Amino acid sequence: STKLRVSEALAGAELGKNVRVQGWVRSVRPQKKNIFLHVNDGSSLQSLQVVGGAELSDPLLTFGSAVEVTGTLRKSPHPQQPVELGADQIHVVGECNSVDFPFKIKERHSLEYIRQLPHLRCRTNVFSSLLRVRSEATTAVHSYFKSNGFLQIHTPTITSNDCEGAGELFQVEPSGPDFEEEVNFFSVPAFLTVSGQLHLEVMSGSFSRVYTFGPTFRAENSQSRRHLAEFFMVEAEISFTQSLEDLTKVMEGMFRSTTEHVLAHCADDVGLFHKHVTPGHRDRVDAMLKQSFPVITYSEAIDILNRSSENFTFPTDWGCDLKTEHEKYLVKHCGDVPVFITDYPYDLKPFYARDNQDQPKHTAAAVDLLVPGVGELCGGSLREERLSLLKARLEDVGLEEIYSWYLDLRRFGSVPHGGFGMGFERYLQCILGVNNIKDVIPFPRFSHSCLL
Ligand code: 4AD
Ligand code: MG
Repeated sequence: STKLRVSEALAGAELGKNVRVQGWVRSVRPQKKNIFLHVNDGSSLQSLQVVGGAELSDPLLTFGSAVEVTGTLRKSPHPQQPVELGADQIHVVGECNSVDFPFKIKERHSLEYIRQLPHLRCRTNVFSSLLRVRSEATTAVHSYFKSNGFLQIHTPTITSNDCEGAGELFQVEPSGPDFEEEVNFFSVPAFLTVSGQLHLEVMSGSFSRVYTFGPTFRAENSQSRRHLAEFFMVEAEISFTQSLEDLTKVMEGMFRSTTEHVLAHCADDVGLFHKHVTPGHRDRVDAMLKQSFPVITYSEAIDILNRSSENFTFPTDWGCDLKTEHEKYLVKHCGDVPVFITDYPYDLKPFYARDNQDQPKHTAAAVDLLVPGVGELCGGSLREERLSLLKARLEDVGLEEIYSWYLDLRRFGSVPHGGFGMGFERYLQCILGVNNIKDVIPFPRFSHSCLL
């Protein structure tokens, strides 16, 4: 017999043939003459209906048990499913004690409940859907960059630079019996990366368009619904830029093409979220894709906030950082669609941001993308490519020695360039309508929690 994935069987492969399917039991209905099972192997949200004679009944066939079924794939008489497997043999590969099993048949468990069970939550429909969407979105991001001429760079996880300078670093040192004395393995302080940007800037000086997609680490203290200590970031760097528009085009293009790909390729899985997790969210996503994203400057954003009748907790004077409450308001104000905010106060941005000289207010050519339900999704900027300006700023903050290699990039064929980073988990929250970031990553890490 041919071994088939459930998704292949449901698509009608090997109809009328003898096949073998392996998976986990999602429901059992023993009847007088027949036994009915639903078997799921993670290849799709749908399970395959298995029908066997009553003699195939077995007390070990319980919700959650692992089985191998051999039989004939045939058209189903029931309109809900295209095919069913007429079983000749049902073999219980692994028993599941349904009394102890934390999930119960036909129950819809909340995301909060299943989050407590990181080793088992992928057995639920909702989390397996999430992981299929996550995988497909990853593929879509890579294919967007490939079709737009970007080279993928594997930027390092361990680094000696603090790209963002925000002091949220995890330091890396070896441990174990060989390292009992105080050690300094790399001879310099080394950290888990907070961003691959500086390494991408190195590479953009040879390849023009580069990107990276991998884990990033920040020792965030906040117990927020949109921060993790380990998250995945998509980062791109582009040489020969003329203006921020060269970046916003790529940010918007990536958002659009990834979202359209996921909606088309994961309709069932996305549908589960849009039906049962956040009903009505599909309309919101469709609205996001309808028109091009509005662009407003930071100064305009401040005017909008100051004109509003909202009672904000945090100040909204020119020069202040935009907080979640402000981001939310701005997104709503612009019609509940993604919105770009450009030209932030120079002093709010890291050393690498390009100085917008000769403006009435001192700003940097930086841009954030704010999205409905989440707030900041992407952060980016043009980089200061002018040696004298960059040198002066690094001297100001006392970093000119550490970043002498970075200044070199401005000495040898420097070009206007810029890039951005997108928080991948926040992206998934945005398109699926998931409130808590811990529910869109396989194994969440955050302060006071590192399960498994
Ligand atoms: O705005 P950020 O800090 O930008 C950078 O790191 C730039 N160096 C990127 C670049 O230009 N190459 O981070 C980028 C995005 C944020 O907009 C946010 O979506 C996400 O990363 N992010 C987090 N996501 C989850 N948990 C956290 N603790 C995050 N911190 C940032
Ligand atoms: Mg940011």
